[in-house]
Amino acid sequence: MTRDIYTWKGGSVGIAVSDNPDLWPSVGEYPFYDRILYYVMTHDHLRNAALGHALRAVAAGRRVIDIGTGRDLNWALEAAGHGAKHVYAIEAIQESHEMAIRRGAASPYADVIEVVHGTSFDVRPAERAEVCVAELIGSIASSEGMLAAMADAHERLLTHDGVVVPAACDTLVGAVSSRELFPDGPAFSRKALPYLRKIFDLYEQPFDVRLAVADPGPEVLLSTVGAVETLRFDGSTPLDDTTRVSLMIERDGAVDGLLCWIGLDAGAGARRLDSLLDKTSWMPVYLPVFDSLVRVRRGDELTVEFERRTSDDGVHPDYHVRGTLATSAGVTSGSLLSGHHEPQLGTKPIYRQLLEAIR
Ligand SMILES: C[S@@+](CC[C@H](N)C(=O)[O-])C[C@H]1O[C@@H](n2cnc3c(N)ncnc32)[C@H](O)[C@@H]1O
Repeated sequence: MTRDIYTWKGGSVGIAVSDNPDLWPSVGEYPFYDRILYYVMTHDHLRNAALGHALRAVAAGRRVIDIGTGRDLNWALEAAGHGAKHVYAIEAIQESHEMAIRRGAASPYADVIEVVHGTSFDVRPAERAEVCVAELIGSIASSEGMLAAMADAHERLLTHDGVVVPAACDTLVGAVSSRELFPDGPAFSRKALPYLRKIFDLYEQPFDVRLAVADPGPEVLLSTVGAVETLRFDGSTPLDDTTRVSLMIERDGAVDGLLCWIGLDAGAGARRLDSLLDKTSWMPVYLPVFDSLVRVRRGDELTVEFERRTSDDGVHPDYHVRGTLATSAGVTSGSLLSGHHEPQLGTKPIYRQLLEAIR
């Protein structure tokens, strides 16, 4: 493990970095999609099979809107290939939009696909669409702004019976130990460093970013699994909400946080994806809810309160997570504000290890 220095106008932090690729900032909720991230999504065969299956069922003869088409124009091409009458493909990142234009022009569907630069919140298409495809799903399902984008799409961009692909997504949680997740101590993957720096540059300071874990595997769970988000994209799910779940500890050990991952229902009977069990491009997120490891035994109970509140950008949520562990030794409570860009640094021991303030 080495330290990389990040300096901003308020000071410097030493970022713990390792060649071990376990830990990344959660990147999907920031506008830094590049060739590598698009490549990973375009080659995520399980994801693409599920979304493609759902789109095939609804695209033929319809007007389709593809929100966040990306540089590869994946869903616009898929919809056109299934006989969509017209596809209005929107991309927020200028460079990705330019690549998408070239991709569309070189495809057999140049006369069907219209590629537009901007965010879905800004566009004014000539007609409403009957189908919307939008893969704005994060490792916490709502974290990339899917709910805000769908609320706006149902209000302005879709017909009253407009269908959305994917149809629904859950955020699932289970109790974990950071010591088991990061046996050599936490450190960001060296490959993740450029993304971390860009995120800090965007908000002009380092902060406690969400922590994404590569391939943790279901064996890291110490508890049963619960759903803290059950999102439907038909316009019925509120932007802000609070849920409570109770998890049972299933093996003896120690707990200091939660692992979050998604269960995706693309729609039309597509195979449901579980990003912890299936190999997909969604990395589970570790939320350090407790300040230190709490010893647990099989049969103990962890209650989780999960509050989703839209941040001040109006699109991306912040999450307030409260955990209460009832063990034979008593009751231990912990809480975490996992903000999209909340200016807080070192709020938990793991963040102080990862981003050490330099005096
Ligand atoms: C997770 S990627 C998906 C890319 C592609 N649709 C796919 O599934 O392979 C999300 C893309 O949506 C773009 N994006 C996010 N929110 C958007 C919005 N509200 N309007 C337009 N583009 C958006 C991002 O820049 C990024 O290219």
